[in-house]
Amino acid sequence: MKKLPFSLVVLSLFSGLLSAQNPDPEVEKKAAELLQSMTIQEKIGQLCQVNGAYGGIPEELGKQVREGRAGSILNEVDTKTLNELQRIAVEESRLGIPLIFARDVIHGFRTILPIPLGQAATWNPELVERGAHIAAVEAASAGLHWTFAPMIDICRDPRWGRIAESLGEDPFLASELGVAMVRGFQGESLADKGAIAACAKHFVGYGAAEGGRDYNSANIPENELYNIYLPPFKACADAGVATFMPTFNDVNGVPASGNPFLFRKVLREDWGFNGFVVSDWESVRQLTVHGVAADNKEAARQATLAGIDMEMASTTYADHLLELVEQGAVPEAVVDEAVRNILRVKLQLGLFEHPYTDPSDFPALANDAHRAVAEQAALQSCVLLRNDGQALPLEAGKLQRLALIGPLADDPYEQLGTWIFDGDPQHTVTPLAALRTALGDKASVQFVKALETSRSRSQAAFPDAVRAAREADAVVLFLGEESILSGEAHSRAHLGLPGAQLELIKAVAETGKPIITVVMAGRPLALGPALEYSDALLFAWHPGTMGGPAIARLLLGLESPSGKLPVTFPTTAGQIPMYYNHKNTGKPATEESYIHIDDIPVRAPQTSVGNTSYYLDAGYKPLFPFGFGLSYSQFEYRNLRLREPAVSPGDTLVVMVELANTGNYEAEEVAQLYIRDVVSSIARPVKELKGFQRIRLKPGESRTATFHLPTEHLAYYYPGKGWMAEPGQFEIFVGGDSDTGFKVSCEIR
Ligand code: NOJ
Repeated sequence: MKKLPFSLVVLSLFSGLLSAQNPDPEVEKKAAELLQSMTIQEKIGQLCQVNGAYGGIPEELGKQVREGRAGSILNEVDTKTLNELQRIAVEESRLGIPLIFARDVIHGFRTILPIPLGQAATWNPELVERGAHIAAVEAASAGLHWTFAPMIDICRDPRWGRIAESLGEDPFLASELGVAMVRGFQGESLADKGAIAACAKHFVGYGAAEGGRDYNSANIPENELYNIYLPPFKACADAGVATFMPTFNDVNGVPASGNPFLFRKVLREDWGFNGFVVSDWESVRQLTVHGVAADNKEAARQATLAGIDMEMASTTYADHLLELVEQGAVPEAVVDEAVRNILRVKLQLGLFEHPYTDPSDFPALANDAHRAVAEQAALQSCVLLRNDGQALPLEAGKLQRLALIGPLADDPYEQLGTWIFDGDPQHTVTPLAALRTALGDKASVQFVKALETSRSRSQAAFPDAVRAAREADAVVLFLGEESILSGEAHSRAHLGLPGAQLELIKAVAETGKPIITVVMAGRPLALGPALEYSDALLFAWHPGTMGGPAIARLLLGLESPSGKLPVTFPTTAGQIPMYYNHKNTGKPATEESYIHIDDIPVRAPQTSVGNTSYYLDAGYKPLFPFGFGLSYSQFEYRNLRLREPAVSPGDTLVVMVELANTGNYEAEEVAQLYIRDVVSSIARPVKELKGFQRIRLKPGESRTATFHLPTEHLAYYYPGKGWMAEPGQFEIFVGGDSDTGFKVSCEIR
């Protein structure tokens, strides 16, 4: 039984007082000295981020840098140009303050890793960290100092194109992996060679855009803001992320770029963040478009007062801040604070000591070691969603003729995914190339593209595909979405396979051959109809440069699939939002209560459909739950137990479970731990992820997995009161996905 909320324990972990961002006195001293010597114009210059010219230095850009009117450049990656811009800043500007060079290095620089959503499917923080590290080293070798990643927006809507760039729907998973990315980008210290500053974006609620339409309004009550959307940002702030970026949209009516509650109160005051905040592209100017500022001058006033330190691309600070300060509308102390925040990061990066970049100090781009990391990430990101009759793995020994069919089997560009400014398809290994290499002269591989792109409708080449399928011992279709169908401003209302891909699968399935489908996509798709015709389906996201070899290894059984969904797959877009950590409602649907629309008797009474929470025509279950993913092997969870059945606030709950590989393949399983607060003062989710472990086991092998759960992890944010762990009963679930019912009970005293 619960005690009253007044007896709740407020937990310091979430109070913000324990921020990891401890200032370094040496850095603070240097920043203060510099600030003292700066004119107001030079200070404002530091707050301006200017777009590069994509090679070369136009006269105006050179002048801006020379006169100290730019603090940062984005989107320039030519090393010679970067060094020359830096030389102008360091040698020709009055104070010699170096520029900080930024770029969207989202899932790799030249070596492209799986899209972030795919990386999230690895549930492997160490691997995600290594991926971010190689991206940082490659970016640094070109002369960059700063990336606008990780994007840790919680997303419950696969229509939103930027779900591809997210780490999925769960605050715990996104926190663990977001922090791993920050560590990978920033290294032990920002001053390390090959470390670049990271950026936690988009603060906060971008993924909650209405209807999944990019840039749209988000309405997020306090309860959801603190329990769902803020935690990954808090985790990254605690991990020392150097910068933050606001979301484009308005949250509860206030566009983030003018929202002092988010940046002054939550980020600075509550969390003690001491890096700097960069606006999103023209998001300061867009305050006028949102209709909260009458003109650009007012937009600049609102943004600076809200705590947006640096303005990206638009020029409202450059154009109006001096006047705003002179008029007393923006105190100079606000400008000073912003400059100090920016100088602090520049000093931490060591830009004053090492302003220039010599690429020969770094390993080559897309080298073998980097490609190996990308391959491992792609391998662990693939999620096996169906494998009827053990259609996979292919038996290489018996295989003589393999047919590869579909627009994504051999497209070096499309498998890279969204946000690959500096990726190069020349380095890509496609599934066709990888399978041909792997099979050598043991088997022939016949390839029929059948559709020009994933959106094509012409069925003219289908007869070739059908012929190839008939002549083959095994058929693998490569379907999905081209890169351009996900990413920024690329939302979709329909989640099915675009173009005539479904017709293709049907035509090929009519041959009676077992159908193996590999789907590459930037979002969860409503795969139901495609699944119907597939004996096996491997979901590969956009797997990046080394997607081909990773997929080949999985298809040929050299490794077992081990990815798990970081996001729920709905059966149809009409079910959205559908996420595992929902609340229960007073009338939850059950197998017994559910009646399909076709089974309702004619003129049935109002109460005939059970009065529970579901769709007459789409049920109440997703296509695949969060955390789901099959293996070639089988795993059993046994003997779930607690070290002690009851703990006090501040203690750590220790949960143990035995995991056994009862199948025939050496394989990895991601064991997942969920909690449920059985009775609480406000309705809580039916399950919440609080731990996971990736475990490799040989056939017949078993191991005990131990999870340590501090009682802070059993806490939740109670609107208006803060973080609390309420005494009472909790259920602890462990299993291979969020549907698991294997549980024990425990108690907080
Ligand atoms: C807009 C995007 O929202 C943001 O994530 C990105 O970093 C900037 N553009 C810069 O390209």
